[in-house]
This record gives sequence, C-alpha cells and structure tokens, in this order.
Amino acid sequence: MSLDRFDRFRDLLVHAPALGFWLDVSRIRFADGFFAQMDARIRDALRRMTELEAGATANPDEGRLVGHYWLRAPALAPKPEIRADVERTLERVLAFAADVHAAHIRPERSPRFRRLVVVGIGGSALGPQLAAAALGSPADRMIPHFFDNTDPDGFDRVLDAIGDDLGATLAVIVSKSGGTKETRNGMLALDAAYRRLGLTLGAHAVAVTGEGSELDKYAAANGFLARFPMWDWVGGRTSELSAVGLLPAALQGLDVRAMLAGAAAMDEVTRAPEPRQNPAAVLALAWYSATGGAGKKDMVVLPYKDRLELFSRYLQQLVMESLGKQHDLDGKEVFQGIAVYGNKGSTDQHAYVQQLRDGVDNFFTTFIEVLRDHAPGRRHEEVEPGVTAGDYLSGFLQGTRQALTDRGRESITVTIEEMGPRALGALIALYERAVGLYAWLVNVNAYHQPGVEAGKKAAQAVITLQGRVFQALSAQPGRAMTVQEIAKAAGESDPEPVFWILRRLVANPERGVVRDLPEPSEDGAIFDATYRLVKV
Ligand code: PA5
Repeated sequence: MSLDRFDRFRDLLVHAPALGFWLDVSRIRFADGFFAQMDARIRDALRRMTELEAGATANPDEGRLVGHYWLRAPALAPKPEIRADVERTLERVLAFAADVHAAHIRPERSPRFRRLVVVGIGGSALGPQLAAAALGSPADRMIPHFFDNTDPDGFDRVLDAIGDDLGATLAVIVSKSGGTKETRNGMLALDAAYRRLGLTLGAHAVAVTGEGSELDKYAAANGFLARFPMWDWVGGRTSELSAVGLLPAALQGLDVRAMLAGAAAMDEVTRAPEPRQNPAAVLALAWYSATGGAGKKDMVVLPYKDRLELFSRYLQQLVMESLGKQHDLDGKEVFQGIAVYGNKGSTDQHAYVQQLRDGVDNFFTTFIEVLRDHAPGRRHEEVEPGVTAGDYLSGFLQGTRQALTDRGRESITVTIEEMGPRALGALIALYERAVGLYAWLVNVNAYHQPGVEAGKKAAQAVITLQGRVFQALSAQPGRAMTVQEIAKAAGESDPEPVFWILRRLVANPERGVVRDLPEPSEDGAIFDATYRLVKV
C-alpha cells in the first residue's frame, strides 16, 4: 500500500529544480482515466493561454487584453509601446524609491520619509500587503502601513500607530479606476491628518492609477510627488507585479527585481506544453478533480510559514473574484467558483483543522511547505535533544497531511525551498496561471468582476438615500418622526433601509440624529421610536 503510494507520489510529482519548487497532487483522488479524459480540454486551455500572452483579447465582456505576464517579460508584449511602458515604469519605480531612500525626495518638513501608507483596496491592496508581510524585516528602508477600507476606526488605528511620524510618512494612493470610494475616503482621511499638522497631502503623496482617472487628475491638481500608470490590460487581482505592488515593495526596500525574476521563471515553467509537466496545468486539473469542476469543494490554504499567512487572503481574491461567476462564456447560467479560506499551520490545527479531520468533507487542502526554516545565520535552537522548532513545524505539516489522507480527505502540497522575493513572485505567477487555465476548463471569464461593480453601485444607492433621510429630517427641524414617516418623506417605499441608516446615525451622536423611545421601553418599542434632528 505505502509502496504504491510512493510510486504514485513519484509519478505525479512536478519538480522545477531551477525554481526550488515541487507540486504534489498525489493525495487528490483522480478518477481512473481522468488525465486522458481532460487532455484535450487542458491542451485547449494552454493554447488559449498562449494566445492571451500573444495579445489576443481574453476578456471578451470588456474587450480588453490581459497582459500581467508581460510585466515580468516585457519583451513578450504584443506592442512595442506596451514593452516600453513596462520597462520605463519599472525604472521609474526603482529610481523614485532610491530617491526617497536617499532623501533626494523628502517630506515638507521632516528630513526624510521613514514610513509609507498604502491606500487601496482589493487588488490594489492585497498583493502589497502580502509582499510586505512575507518579505519584510527590521532592515526595511521604510515601515509599511495600509488603509484598505473605509473604516474610520481603521484609519485612526493606523494613524495612531504612525503617531508623530506622520510628517515623515509617504502616502501611496493606489486605484486602477481612480474612482473607488474606499480609497478616495482613505486619501481624504490622510489629507485631513496632514492638514492638522499644517502639511499638505500633495507634498507627501504619490499615485498609482489609470491615466486620466479621477485620482490621476486629483494627483496632478494637488501636486503629488509622482504618478505611476496602471494599464487597462492589468487586472486588479493580477497587479502585484505592476507599479501597484512594485512601488510599495521598492519603497519598503524589498528586492522587486527578484520578485519579477521569480515570476518570470515560473511563467517559463508553466508554459510547458505537456500538461503533466506543467505545474499550473496540473494544479488546475487537481482543482477540477477535487471540485467536480463545479466548486463542490472549498480550497483550504495552509502555509506552514508565518510569513505566508496573508497568502490565503490573497488567493481568496484571485480565485474567487476570477472564478465566481454566474454565467459562462456562452451566457449559460453556471454559478461557478471555488471558495478559498485559510490562515497558517500549525496554528490552524488548533482551530478549524478539527473539522477538516473529523467533520464535513467539503474541502480540499493546499499545504504550502517551506523547506528552509529561517534565514541563514539564525540559530536553530533545540527544543528537545536534537529537535528544533522547525522540525516540529515540518512534523505537524506531514502529520496533518497524512491524517487527512487517512480520513479520505484530499490535499495538494506546494513545496518551496525558501521564503524570499523570488519564491513569492513564483507563487503569485503559479496561481495566476492556474486560475486562468481552470477558468477555461469551466468556460468562465476569469478577467472581469461584475459582482464587484454591482456592490459599488449598491453602496452608492444607500449613500443617496441617507442624503434624502437627512433632507426629510431637516425639512421639519425638531419634529419627531417615525421610520415610516421619514421613509415616506424621503420618497423610499421600503422603511427597512431607512431604519438601518437611522440606527447607525443615532449611534454616532455627532451626526445630530436623536432617537426617542416610547416609555416604558419594551420589546418591539424600537419600531415605535421617533427620530429628530438636533444641532450638534
Ligand atoms: O481585482 C479587482 O478588479 C478589484 O478587486 C479591484 O482591485 C478593487 O475593486 C479596487 O479597484 P481600483 O484599483 O480600481 O480602486
């Protein structure tokens, strides 16, 4: 039995020695004949990927090219102007970071920039956050912080952490569209914070955005230190190796050329035409087998390395935003996707891994193993005679993998030699391509995100309604009105969203909305409450 298993492991293992990379899918229960049955489809996906890389329109809804692969191999770009843009932007990013580090570019009053705040969301934040966490060290040139939401308390927390150093903090505002409200709000919160110190945002800020976007215009009008381009042929969730990710990483002092080289090397390996020798194709096929090509099982991502704890969050977006689609490319309703969650091992063994072992079998696990325990020169302290903490980490990984197999639960293991910029670039490139290939296996467009756009519109409707609620209250100052009365006066037929708006405004006294409860207060009385506007 165990010999068969070892043979199977050897047979299925994909090893890229130049990259220090292994992919093991031997613990996926491929049906007999699976690879033969899928052969034509995966070859077709690989052919389409070749066409995509050569400049075919791969995002049919939006009529856009998909060119994140050119970011690390500009010579492959289908047009000379794209190649020139990529090369010039990388040089500009590196030169800007060098000038900041050398204090040739410096803040209004402080001698040098010591910190950066990246303001962005989704694809404009998750990659930079992953790189900062995976590669950061006390030797970094600048300390990174992030605004990745429109949560005022979140802004306060970051500003509190920066404290007196705000005057030495560079704001990196990242938005491809340049119109994302969370990012605009974060930028305005920073603007206010600088102004409280008598400083200006422009003298401390740089933008990464599409040319001519709202943010681009704002940055030009407000004298930002620099503007870097984000092209329409790079999607948000595949933008880590564009200026979106490279600028924050270079400012932090990370080796962005190594990240690009790692991605380029993985791209080379994952262009292999033979599916079984191509790790991205093997990964996509393993997902297909595990999920029935219909998202029937969730992907649990378990890196046994603290530095990779944000990798599952990064993959969550890459996989779920790319694959989670209502319609396929022929317009048929398919409700596709693969749910992704995870954190890190062995930590999660003390949390949800209990369910993975013993509970509902609705997942497959991806273990990520890093062979090198820590940086050269660090001490391998023994925790028991002849045994180190790293031995335990490795033991927990292998033990859990085996325990899951024993319970009939499937898993994949990705192994890398050591954690560093090259490996991170390679991991990003591997998953970008696997997602693209899988999307073609299940016939969905991996490169649009209609659900994200719908969410943005829905929020705007609530903000507009809130404006009408304020108008309704201020039209009759001091008058106490019920939710239903306010909804009617606001021209809203459904009182529920009005109730939600009022409940929140009441919890924020500085907004001037007061709620009066009928006495004695009892269950249900909240729906008989009246609201009025007071001066604050
Ligand atoms: O991947 C995507 O397209 C999204 O997650 C975007 O990155 C996100 O909505 C932020 O958009 P923008 O960069 O335009 O501000």
